[in-house]
Amino acid sequence: MSGHTKKAAITGFPVDQSRSPLVHGYWLKKHGLEGEYGRVPVPPETATAFYKDFAASGLIGANVTVPHKEVAAAACAHLDDAAKAMGAANTLWLDESGALCGANTDGLGFLGNLDQLAPGWDTACGTAVVLGAGGAARAIIWALLSRGFTTVHIVNRTFEKAKSLEDQFGSGTKAHAWDKLGTLLGEADLLVNTTALGMTGKAPLEIDLDTLPVSALVTDIVYAPLETGLLKQATKRGNKTVDGLGMLLHQAVPGFKRWFGVRPEVDKELRELVLADLGV
Ligand code: ATR
Repeated sequence: MSGHTKKAAITGFPVDQSRSPLVHGYWLKKHGLEGEYGRVPVPPETATAFYKDFAASGLIGANVTVPHKEVAAAACAHLDDAAKAMGAANTLWLDESGALCGANTDGLGFLGNLDQLAPGWDTACGTAVVLGAGGAARAIIWALLSRGFTTVHIVNRTFEKAKSLEDQFGSGTKAHAWDKLGTLLGEADLLVNTTALGMTGKAPLEIDLDTLPVSALVTDIVYAPLETGLLKQATKRGNKTVDGLGMLLHQAVPGFKRWFGVRPEVDKELRELVLADLGV
């Protein structure tokens, strides 16, 4: 590779578990591009300095994983609307003047996955029920509101966390305690699990879908296993479902396009490659 090879990387701490190098490596090869995508561990005590002086890293851009998404956003001169709303950036690049720019593509990843696997899913843009109130929920609520959903119910074990998201996003969102779920499901066009419940090694998500209209779409951000207990239960009663793997893959698309100049596809081969690597 020449000294002009464009280099990007996953940054965070740790970064060993990240599938981003596999995803970007697949796209670089598929498009025959001369570029590199590696792993750069950034120990927490060096994070502020690393992102503030990002240009010194020799990278043209980066993805950011836990625990540095907030520190990275704070170091950016420019943020897109999603990163501003979340106070967290997962995609970085340098503009022509060398200023650090940040985006948060988690919400776009969520939308891209549903657009690909359930075309027309947002026709009604009506009522969504979101389970959980962490960082993933924040990205998904932002995405649903930006797409035009009129009502987003946020249901969380800890009511206060759901309420703070309602306070942030305002009209259109409403926080609820878990015991209201049965009634809320009766109104839902879309049900999203943003908690880690149902993931291999975690407690199952205990939920009764009896009141959910059969026309509602059900999706989960968990992708190991690919077909979670929630999705199995939904499929059995006739609801359309979308698994969470595509959100992980689609959130990588905007960064690749910006760094390497080609908008890549989330194709079947990529899904299979990542699933094999996950051992799912
Ligand atoms: P992330 O940033 O990935 O979304 P997080 O901030 O840790 O992760 O959020 C995890 C979400 O899963 C939270 O909504 C959490 O509920 P609490 O706010 O009550 O902690 C939810 N969650 C985790 N374990 C749970 C459990 N056993 N039962 C119900 N909800 C759970």
